Amino acid sequence: MRQVARQARAEGRSTGFVPTMGALHAGHLSLVRAARAESQQVIASIFVNPTQFAPNEDFQKYPRTFEADSKELEDAGVDYLFAPEPAEMYPQGFRTWVNVEGLSERLDGRSRPGHFRAVATVVLKLLEIVQPQRAFFGRKDTQQARIIRQMARDLHLDSEIVVCPIIREPDGLAMSSRNAYLNPKERRAATILFRALDGARISIARGERDALRLTAAMRDMISTEPLAELDFAELVDAETLEAVTRLRGVCLALLAVRIGTTRLVDNLLIEEREGEFQTTL
Ligand code: PAF
Repeated sequence: MRQVARQARAEGRSTGFVPTMGALHAGHLSLVRAARAESQQVIASIFVNPTQFAPNEDFQKYPRTFEADSKELEDAGVDYLFAPEPAEMYPQGFRTWVNVEGLSERLDGRSRPGHFRAVATVVLKLLEIVQPQRAFFGRKDTQQARIIRQMARDLHLDSEIVVCPIIREPDGLAMSSRNAYLNPKERRAATILFRALDGARISIARGERDALRLTAAMRDMISTEPLAELDFAELVDAETLEAVTRLRGVCLALLAVRIGTTRLVDNLLIEEREGEFQTTL
C-alpha cells in the first residue's frame, strides 16, 4: 500500500480515499463516486477496527461481507482495496493514541468512552499509509467527521477531509451497516429517528428557534415508538458540539436511539443564511 501511495505521489496522480469497515451499502458507494469525481485514483479500505468497539459492543458480530464488498468496490471503479489485518495495524507493543480533546467526550463519546480516540487513531494511521489528497466520510456519523476534520487541521495533515451527504432508504432511514441487525419489526420501528428529525425540520420551517422545545419534541416523538430507547436527542453548535438554547449559525440536531439491541444515530444539519434557517436531512 505504501508503495502504491508513494508511486501515485511521485507521478503526481491524486488519490481519493474511502475508509470503511466493510458491510458496504449505497452510502459507502456514494463516497466512492465522490472520490472518483475528484481524484485520479481511488483507494478504499476495509478494516473492522477492534479498538473502536468497547468490550460490550458488537465487534464480534459486526457484519463481515468481504467477498461481496470487494466485488462492489471493483464494480464501482475503486483502483486499490487496502484490507489490513489487526496485527498489522496494531503490532505488539503499540502505544500511541490520538485524542481530539473536548469534541470526543461529548454526545456519542459519553455513551461510548474511548470510541473517538480509537477512530481518530486508526484514521490517522490509514491516512499516513494511503497518503490521499482527499479522504471521504459520510455525514451520518457527523461527530466522527467533525473530530477527523479537527485532527487533520491540528496535525497539519496533507489530506483534505470531505464530508458527503447522508444516503437514506426510501422511508428515510439513514443507511448504516448496522441496519442489517434489525428484524422486520425493528426495521419498521427504526424510521422513528428520521421521523423525529423530520418533525424538527418542519417545526424549524414554521419558525421554531427554541432548541429546548425542538429537542423535547424529538424526545416525545421517540417515546411513541415502543421498540425505541432514547440514548440522546441534542441540539448543538456544529463546530463546538456544545448544546445551544436557540438556533444560531450552523447547528446539528442529533439522535442516538437503541432499537432492540441495535444502536442507531442520525442527524439534521441546520444552517443559518441571511437570517433564514436551511435544513438538510
Ligand atoms: O465510519 C467508519 O466506518 C469507521 O469509523 C472508520 C472511519 C472507517 C474508522 O474505522
